[in-house]
Amino acid sequence: MPENLLIEGPKDGVRVFTLNRPEALNALNTELLGNLSAALDEAEADAETRAVVITGSQKAFAAGADINEMAARDLVGILEDPRTTHWARISRFNKPIIAAVNGFALGGGCELAMHADIMIAGTTARFGQPEINLGIMPGAGGTQRLVRAVGERLAMQMVLTGEPIDAKRALEAGLISEICQPELTLERAVQIARTIAGKAPIAVRLARESVRKANDLNLADGLRFERHAFTVLAGTADRQEGLDAFREKRKPHFTGR
Ligand code: HXC
Repeated sequence: MPENLLIEGPKDGVRVFTLNRPEALNALNTELLGNLSAALDEAEADAETRAVVITGSQKAFAAGADINEMAARDLVGILEDPRTTHWARISRFNKPIIAAVNGFALGGGCELAMHADIMIAGTTARFGQPEINLGIMPGAGGTQRLVRAVGERLAMQMVLTGEPIDAKRALEAGLISEICQPELTLERAVQIARTIAGKAPIAVRLARESVRKANDLNLADGLRFERHAFTVLAGTADRQEGLDAFREKRKPHFTGR
């Protein structure tokens, strides 16, 4: 197991990845992002893993890209930055990701959290895009996913001032879906992941893809995608099992077929 990324599970269909660079508030360097992307490769290939939780420490989910590493790269260095490949890998992951955020989620840390499908945060969480303070700007989705999550006005304020928002504001704005006591954030995220892990995997996959399409497609194309996905599910054994179980008043047993 890599030192800067702790991996637990799969247990009850869930793997938990804990960012672990306490000396740098979990700043995302190439090695850590590489380990995360390799861990996602494994999780994707493993049929037993149905959902993934990504978390950090009580003090920081992640305080951004590693500034020291970034400082060592000039224009060409940034152009050829291997971290770009890792970010792309994270966004391609095909199972649900739940982020459990406590403390700082800044810059690349906020962007990593926004790669998750569901985000739960403790009351101490602080979300921000402070890149502007460094004379740069967000580069892993902070101007795009943030706008889609909280709207242009708040996103613009955060990106141009660099000032963070707290968990309460993040909840009101729609960046996170639940807020809880910091010591319960991970437990709650795992509970949600386990709930999802108990559902029919193909239905989860298509439902997730369909919800995600809402950001990429216009309404007519999105509705068309949804209808196709809904129709495809009619061919699965799990749909039959789900409908039978309801009528027989028992719990369904899904097999992923
Ligand atoms: C490298 C970092 C770091 C980072 C903190 N550290 N953030 N190292 N990269 N992003 C290190 C500090 O240098 C320090 O190391 C140790 O972690 C503890 O941090 P402190 O600053 O002493 O802690 P505190 O006073 O509590 O302040 C916390 C903080 C502050 C407010 C989060 O650390 C901070 O502002 N960090 C930078 C946040 C940021 O600008 N992020 C955006 C990065 S750019 P030492 O050795 O001194 O103890 C980015 C671009 C993404 O993310 C682009 C993606 C393509």
